[in-house]
Amino acid sequence: MIIDTHAHYDDEAFEQDRNEVLKELSHKGVEKVINAAASMDGCRRTLKLSGEYDFVYGMLGVHPDDVGDLTEKDMDFIRENAGNPKIVAIGEIGLDYHWDVAPREVQKHWFLRQIQIAKETGLPICVHSRDAVADTLAVLKEGKAQEAGGVIHCYSYSAELAKEYLAMGFYFGIGGVVTFKNGRKCKEVVEMLPMDKILLETDAPYLAPEPFRGKRNESSYLSYVAKEIASIKNISEEEVISRTTENAHRLYFKLK
Ligand code: NI
Repeated sequence: MIIDTHAHYDDEAFEQDRNEVLKELSHKGVEKVINAAASMDGCRRTLKLSGEYDFVYGMLGVHPDDVGDLTEKDMDFIRENAGNPKIVAIGEIGLDYHWDVAPREVQKHWFLRQIQIAKETGLPICVHSRDAVADTLAVLKEGKAQEAGGVIHCYSYSAELAKEYLAMGFYFGIGGVVTFKNGRKCKEVVEMLPMDKILLETDAPYLAPEPFRGKRNESSYLSYVAKEIASIKNISEEEVISRTTENAHRLYFKLK
């Protein structure tokens, strides 16, 4: 069974039929879903969703686009709720210099603070990093993030740079991009990565794999991602699913 390690089912794209979509997943080979918060409101919605569905877990954190108004009170909220048995990580956190919604110094400050909270609460981190490879590595090193461990979500840099994150022990979230015709870089990364460092993730409602590219994504489409990884690695789709599920258990569910 598949574990979707990163989805946004609290997104408004699921407003009309969230319950139907989620309830169908177990009939479509999906065992668990980890809902990723991106804002403080997203943290509250993630707590609610993970309370409502047995198989939905959550991560709490604030995406770099949304850190502009954060306060230490928000950090208290995340720290207090990180002890909830359904919360398995701090995320998604990181740096986004592509959109530069918040000033870079502000992004770095809250990225580091949230790494510290992960270490205080004993949870791994889920890192979003876009067009910010050098600063991402610098903040991870400054915060000694390898002590928390975690995943580089929707990894978008080269196979060469991936070795730096591998050396720190990080996992890699692989999703729809690996199926894209222009996803050559992602295919090279998958080719280089050891199987015990790959996690399946949708980032739903975004980044649906081929043949659904451009449509609303959902966790059951991960079978197409598994199929693509299988052909790159020259192993069976079943082996990709069992290995990535084992990896997700090792990183997120060992204590739950
Ligand atoms: Ni995401």
